[in-house]
Amino acid sequence: MQVVDNTVALRTRIKTWRANNELIAFVPTMGNLHEGHLSLVQKAKALADRIVVSIYVNPLQFNDKNDLEKYPRTLTEDINLLSEQECDLVFTPDDSVVYPQGMSEQTSVHVPGMDDKLCGLGRPGHFDGVATVVTKLFNMVQADIAVFGEKDYQQLLLIKKLVADLNIPIDVVGAPTRREDSGLAMSSRNNLLSDTQRLTAPLLYQQLMTIRTALENGETDLDALTQAAQTQLRESGFEPEYLDIRRADDLRPAQPGDRTALRILVAARLGSVRLIDNILCDLA
Ligand code: PAF
Repeated sequence: MQVVDNTVALRTRIKTWRANNELIAFVPTMGNLHEGHLSLVQKAKALADRIVVSIYVNPLQFNDKNDLEKYPRTLTEDINLLSEQECDLVFTPDDSVVYPQGMSEQTSVHVPGMDDKLCGLGRPGHFDGVATVVTKLFNMVQADIAVFGEKDYQQLLLIKKLVADLNIPIDVVGAPTRREDSGLAMSSRNNLLSDTQRLTAPLLYQQLMTIRTALENGETDLDALTQAAQTQLRESGFEPEYLDIRRADDLRPAQPGDRTALRILVAARLGSVRLIDNILCDLA
């Protein structure tokens, strides 16, 4: 496995694969890798001949400086884990490689229809930061396929739209959320939870499941369902940011009686840690 921190070395390697007609899959990450990320790498391996993983904590997508500073950085462990996965290339650029002119001079990519809902409301500027860095990484790596986790469902839809709207020649593939035995979605942020918070955290997923069961049983009062779940979360120490039932394809609010694929999504803080999760509920 090769580790490169600059685009010249990256391109040189990619060029040799292209010359051999090898299919390249790319998994962009911010490091602090856990089983969830490794499942993305496995998915990529099933789809392509060569696997590239990037590790870059992108300052542009953090609207909260404190969150950026606290973000766990574990590069050596990450590289070891990836070499066990038989990843081919790890790209570890720093800010001077990604933003050579500085971030304030950077051309920004804005995907419409994302800032005004769900994570877009609580994290102003976040999705522009994601769209900008992902566009740059796509252009740097020039892979055939990119794999993203469904845990960041809104991000996955944003990237699919970005690629379609800008005609970027890459297939964006979603991979299912990996969960701990408790049901808690795997996330780098879980490492920031105290032991007590870890016991409470699985309630997030349980509330999503409760809503799904109610919908499957014919409940149509969507507001009552989401309000009840938020109350439960508050009583257990969470501060919910949103908990909503949306149409899975465009994240528009679900309507009572909708017979389509829905997504139940939540973001909530436990102490200072912001957790997100979502599940599919297909009533079609
Ligand atoms: O999901 C993430 O880890 C990040 O948002 C991504 C896609 C690597 C962009 O920095």
